[in-house]
Amino acid sequence: MKNTIPEVILNDGLALPRVGFGTYTLNGAAGVQAILSAINIGYRLLDSAFNYENEGVVGEAVRRSFIPREQLLITSKLPGRHHSYNEAITTIQESLYRANLDYYDLYLIHWPNPIKNLYVEAWQALIDAKKWGLIRSIGVCNFLPEHIERLIQETGVIPSINQIELHPFFSQKEQLIYNQKHGIVTESWSPLGRKNTLLMENKELLRIAETHHKSISQIILRWHIQLGSIPIPKSSSPKRQLENLALFDFTLSEQDMMMISILNQENGRLANQNPASYEEF
Ligand SMILES: NC(=O)c1ccc[n+]([C@@H]2O[C@H](COP(=O)([O-])OP(=O)(O)OC[C@H]3O[C@@H](n4cnc5c(N)ncnc54)[C@H](OP(=O)(O)O)[C@@H]3O)[C@@H](O)[C@H]2O)c1
Repeated sequence: MKNTIPEVILNDGLALPRVGFGTYTLNGAAGVQAILSAINIGYRLLDSAFNYENEGVVGEAVRRSFIPREQLLITSKLPGRHHSYNEAITTIQESLYRANLDYYDLYLIHWPNPIKNLYVEAWQALIDAKKWGLIRSIGVCNFLPEHIERLIQETGVIPSINQIELHPFFSQKEQLIYNQKHGIVTESWSPLGRKNTLLMENKELLRIAETHHKSISQIILRWHIQLGSIPIPKSSSPKRQLENLALFDFTLSEQDMMMISILNQENGRLANQNPASYEEF
């Protein structure tokens, strides 16, 4: 299938598709099949993480696919327990060995873990790994403005990406504006709210979906795109993978966008993971 997903250019020049593929819980042989299916269907941006224990699965799917490596954009993430400079470098190398890849397109700090206060060291390791050609583009996940400010002040290097929890119950307006102002592209994790029933059966979303002859998932994913964020939905089903890519033949009105954004809840996080205090292992 021809890849027709529009692209966005990061602040370091790397072009990313406007929608990617999440891989959390895709492990083992079934995981390889699901990721291979996603690549064949047309996904080019793949998410993964050291802590998902599936970098090997992603690498295997990439090798089994007929898509040249340079057309794929592969992401992994540095876990919280390896933020010290030397451990971060070793972990990036280990991530590459696990996937059997020469380089990652994107490598992100998974969580800031501000209580440990080592994320600037971790960032310096990513900066150096990029210089050495192990990574093409470096970014962060779950970083609040105060964390990004420190990276900029202490290293002068602005992340290309900030991957954050973002779905209609937690729409992150201020963080999105902050990222945009600083030239940082936002990626939305759990973009479908992990298939939260309250979201998937929401009457307002259903009404908008019927107007556009689309599914609720497609409406939500299109909302992310029009907010300027890259959603990375995970699906193990080829049918739903295809559905989640069919987002570029319709447009939500300003009224639709507003009706979705007002579903936001102050405590709308799925698992109460506040980056100011959450400690990722
Ligand atoms: N940086 C971070 O801290 C962080 C945290 C969490 C997640 N992530 C990344 O973000 C990715 C996406 O988030 P997520 O996996 O938590 O949640 P999600 O993508 O919001 O939701 C995944 C769930 O939705 C279902 N689904 C997918 N497409 C659907 C459709 N069209 N209709 C109905 N159900 C559908 C999937 O089921 P089926 O598989 O059965 O289709 C699965 O149960 C992860 O996989 C991971 O790569 C990053």
